[in-house]
Amino acid sequence: MIRVRFIAPDGQIEDATGSPGDLLLHLAQAYGQPLEGTCEGQMACSTCHVIVAAEDFARLPPASEEEEDMLDLAAGATRTSRLACQIELVPALDGLTVRVPGEARDMRGR
Ligand code: FES
Repeated sequence: MIRVRFIAPDGQIEDATGSPGDLLLHLAQAYGQPLEGTCEGQMACSTCHVIVAAEDFARLPPASEEEEDMLDLAAGATRTSRLACQIELVPALDGLTVRVPGEARDMRGR
């Protein structure tokens, strides 16, 4: 089991447990976090944007160039932002904390 702590837009903490191979996006959705994930992992929407806790960021594999490009368009993106659809849970990520930003709507009308 891999434990992930979500911090919802309203500050509420939700402790989730996932399995290796789960996508962070799907785990978040299973625990009621408001991540749309409109493009289902095609890296075309950025509605799965999450902000990883600074102390956990280095544990994630680096983002691909496509992911970086999409994050540039995400509202409120920070240096530790990632796309939840690109993060696969592995045991090394146990104890990860991520914050779900408030407004994550896809503004480009795709
Ligand atoms: Fe669209 Fe992640 S679900 S970029």
